[in-house]
Amino acid sequence: MTSTMRAAIAAIAFAIAAPAALAQGSTEKGIEAYRQALQDGNPAELWEARGEDLWKKRTGPKNASLEKCDLGLGPGVVKGAYAQMPRHFADADRVMDLETRLVWCRVNLQGMSEADAKRGPFGGPDRKSDIEALVAWITSESKGVTMAVSLDHPKMRENFELGKAIFFFRGGPHDFACATCHGEDGKRIRLQDLPNLTAKSGAQKGYTTWPAYRVSQGELRTFQWRLNDCFRQQRFPELEFGSPASIALTTFLAYNANGAAFAAPAIKR
Ligand code: HEC
Repeated sequence: MTSTMRAAIAAIAFAIAAPAALAQGSTEKGIEAYRQALQDGNPAELWEARGEDLWKKRTGPKNASLEKCDLGLGPGVVKGAYAQMPRHFADADRVMDLETRLVWCRVNLQGMSEADAKRGPFGGPDRKSDIEALVAWITSESKGVTMAVSLDHPKMRENFELGKAIFFFRGGPHDFACATCHGEDGKRIRLQDLPNLTAKSGAQKGYTTWPAYRVSQGELRTFQWRLNDCFRQQRFPELEFGSPASIALTTFLAYNANGAAFAAPAIKR
C-alpha cells in the first residue's frame, strides 16, 4: 500500500468517525471545490452566442432586430446596462427588469403582440427559450461591472419598498416568507446553502450569480425563473412572468447587491 493510499484511507476513517459538525464542514469544502471546478468551461456560453444572434436577427411583423432596444443607457447600448437594472424607463413610465424590457422592445420594435413576446420564457427538454438566450448574452455584457441600481426615481423607491414588503410577507400553507428561508446565516436545505438575502454579502452573492447554467437541468435559468422556483418552494401561487410582484422583488434584491461586481452567467449544480 502506498503512503498516499494509506493517507486516503485514514482520512475516510476519520471522516466516518468525525462528529457531525466536522463532517458538515468538510462536505461544504467538497461542494465549494466542485463549484470552482465547474467554473471552467460554462455551457452558458452557448446561450450567450444564441442570444447575441437573436438580438441582431430581424423578425416579427415589423421585421426589425432588437439592436435599437434601449436598455437604459441609450438605444443599442448593452455593455454595463444590466448592472443598473431594474430601472425606471421614461418611454414606458414604469419600472422594468431586463426580461420585461425585452418584452417591451419585442412589442414596440418588432411589432409582436404582448402574448407572443412573453410566450415560453423558460425552456425545457424539447424547446429552447429565446428570452433565456437573450438574457444570457445581455447579462454577460455586464460581467465584472459594479452593481449600481438607483432608487432616485420615486417609482423605483416605490418598487423597492413593495419588494421588501413581499420579501417579508408570510403566507401559504406553511406560513413561509422569503425571509423564513433566506433571513439568517448558515441555513441549508439538504446540500443547498440558503443565502441570507437580508445581509449585504448574501444579497450580493445570491443576486450577482444569476442567470446561471443549471447542471442538474441542462438549462440556463434567468432571475425570473429563480423567483418562480422559490415561489414554488414557498407553496405560493405561481409567479406570473414579468408581473409587478416579480419586478418589485427583483428591484429589492438588485439594489441590495449594489457595490458588488456582477458575476453571471454563472454555473450552479
Ligand atoms: C422553503 C424555503 C425557501 C423559501 C420560502 C424561499 N426560498 Fe429562495 N431558495 C431556496 C433554496 C433551497 C435555494 C437554493 C436552491 C439551489 O441551490 O438549488 C434558494 C435560492 C434562492 C436564490 C438564489 C441564491 C443563490 O445564491 O443562487 C434567490 C435569489 C432566492 N432563493 C430568492 C427567494 C425569494 C425572493 C423568495 C421569496 C419569494 C424565496 N427565495 C423563498 C429556498 C427557499
